[in-house]
Amino acid sequence: MNNAATHPDGFSYETAQHVLDVNFFGAQNMIRRLVPARWPEAYTGRWLDAKSGYKGMRKGGCIVNIGCGSSFAVAGELSGPFSLLRQRFDACATETAIVMLLTDYLGQVAADSHIQAGWPSNPYLVSKVALQRLSTVVQESLECEATKRYETGITCLSVDPGWMRTRMGGPDAPVPVEEAAKLVVSRILAALHPP
Ligand SMILES: NC(=O)c1ccc[n+]([C@@H]2O[C@H](COP(=O)([O-])OP(=O)(O)OC[C@H]3O[C@@H](n4cnc5c(N)ncnc54)[C@H](OP(=O)(O)O)[C@@H]3O)[C@@H](O)[C@H]2O)c1
Repeated sequence: MNNAATHPDGFSYETAQHVLDVNFFGAQNMIRRLVPARWPEAYTGRWLDAKSGYKGMRKGGCIVNIGCGSSFAVAGELSGPFSLLRQRFDACATETAIVMLLTDYLGQVAADSHIQAGWPSNPYLVSKVALQRLSTVVQESLECEATKRYETGITCLSVDPGWMRTRMGGPDAPVPVEEAAKLVVSRILAALHPP
């Protein structure tokens, strides 16, 4: 489960880079190590020792990326910035395209032109929408014909725990962490065992 995330106060290029590193690239690195067969270069020694015999996650495993959507909903509707970002990332058919879009975001932040380019000053939001898209792209590639030969039987999904009472969510959050955890587990089980 890719749960770790950061949502610091303030906005700068350094903050944006850090947030993307932790929330998106950290999760992406974990996924690559959990399903190395998807990336032939995984065994070149850069990520994994070819002699280690490590084959990644066991067949039937599940990668869960903790996402975030409900926090950006107003009266059940996703807020404008969230919807716009979703459209932008939904157009990414590959992992590379997602990374290129994030690189574009950081470039625009560095040039102080991100607002004009339609990006928010909220790297947390950007990182979470990108992670949600990554989950879908990885899941699609795990299902597609070309990778079936690896017979990973692995599922990758994104689950939104909702606004919960943690350090990040703060004391005003409506949902205690125990309830949010139960919700996350129920959503994982529902995804793994559809009715
Ligand atoms: N709280 C909400 O309302 C809410 C809503 C939607 C989604 N989420 C998502 O739920 C997940 C859990 O968030 P939370 O509410 O429990 O937040 P939290 O209370 O701030 O906890 C964040 C966790 O991430 C770890 N972490 C942060 N940066 C790290 C880094 N660079 N390396 C390793 N670990 C790092 C922290 O470790 P340390 O304790 O060592 O700092 C902590 O365990 C996150 O993915 C968040 O985006 C939360």
